[in-house]
Amino acid sequence: MLIDRNISLKPYNTFGLDVAADYLTHIRHPEDLKEVFTNKKFQLMKKLILGGGSNILLTRHFGGLVIKMEIAGIEVIEENDETVLVKVGAGENWHQLVLWAVENGLGGIENLSLIPGTVGAAPMQNIGAYGVEQESVFHSLEAYEVESGKSTRFYKEDCSFGYRYSAFKGPLKEKYIITHVYYRLTKHPIYNVSYGNLKATLDEMGVEELSLSDISQAVINIRQSKLPDPSEIGNAGSFFKNPVVSKEHYQSLVAAYDEVPGYEINEAEIKVPAAWLIEKASWKGYKRGEIGVHSKQPLVLVNFGKGQGQAIKMLSEEIQKSVADKFGIELETEVNII
Ligand code: EPU
Repeated sequence: MLIDRNISLKPYNTFGLDVAADYLTHIRHPEDLKEVFTNKKFQLMKKLILGGGSNILLTRHFGGLVIKMEIAGIEVIEENDETVLVKVGAGENWHQLVLWAVENGLGGIENLSLIPGTVGAAPMQNIGAYGVEQESVFHSLEAYEVESGKSTRFYKEDCSFGYRYSAFKGPLKEKYIITHVYYRLTKHPIYNVSYGNLKATLDEMGVEELSLSDISQAVINIRQSKLPDPSEIGNAGSFFKNPVVSKEHYQSLVAAYDEVPGYEINEAEIKVPAAWLIEKASWKGYKRGEIGVHSKQPLVLVNFGKGQGQAIKMLSEEIQKSVADKFGIELETEVNII
């Protein structure tokens, strides 16, 4: 077992926060987990499972063991005329999987290009972008059960996927560690370019006949133009979820502010972009020392370099309060605050 002691987590979180942990171990095989969990020294210690570190805000020293998931491998398990079933190690980089799929002519995840993080973290919060969520291609996953040390298979219906949600964030939280994910990709892709300016971007690119690589490239272009690159400016993507409000509440907002964007979820509810609410509450581009609110996408909080997690947390609470005061809407965080 490889163990680092008193180690800075700065390279392991996309906010680039310089917070240390007592111990860190690298997991390259599911069996490594057993070794960690049966080791007397680590048994009672607090543990933090880390994928790409792209959805966490570290606010203080971590007094425990960080378990860094690095299980690798992209393996075709099954293939027929229509689809391919692929088994992917939890530690694989998500975007590398997307590129692999695109290169092999396999559709289903091209709209999810350039999402930071690892494959093991993808089902955890059911990542999504540009009208697609990972659940649409998800087949199953294997997870290490902490209590028994056994590997368990979960199928789609076991995962309760929702908007940025799965059972692994709910009732199964901290009980399982995802080691492999199975995706069913298609050889005959159905392109989905209806979200926002995806079609317009493809037109600008001069694309006439759609292909997986053009869609992937268009998504990459949009993301690069709007979202800060974590290797340049620390961030964890959307900091908040888009809130869902009742139709009555939405209508009262429309009465007060003419054009309120909103997407109907069902007959009674509307999803309102948190970015719009935060912008209207005057936070877009806000800067406070080393931290702030991104100038092109206010849903993203940023660390310009030497910012502190605690300061980002305080800023996020101020944003929540001002949005609640102005619109009567409680913003929920998407990022895990540790
Ligand atoms: N908007 C503003 N001001 C802005 C930016 C956006 O008012 O500065 C409003 C506009 O009305 C715009 C709407 O917000 O039409 C939606 O904006 P965008 O398409 O950028 O998407 P989003 O709802 O803000 C979500 C995801 C992103 C994902 C995009 C694209 C959440 C919490 N975030 O953002 O995911 O990339 O859609 O699909 O659902 C992430 O999870 O880390 C993430 C980046």
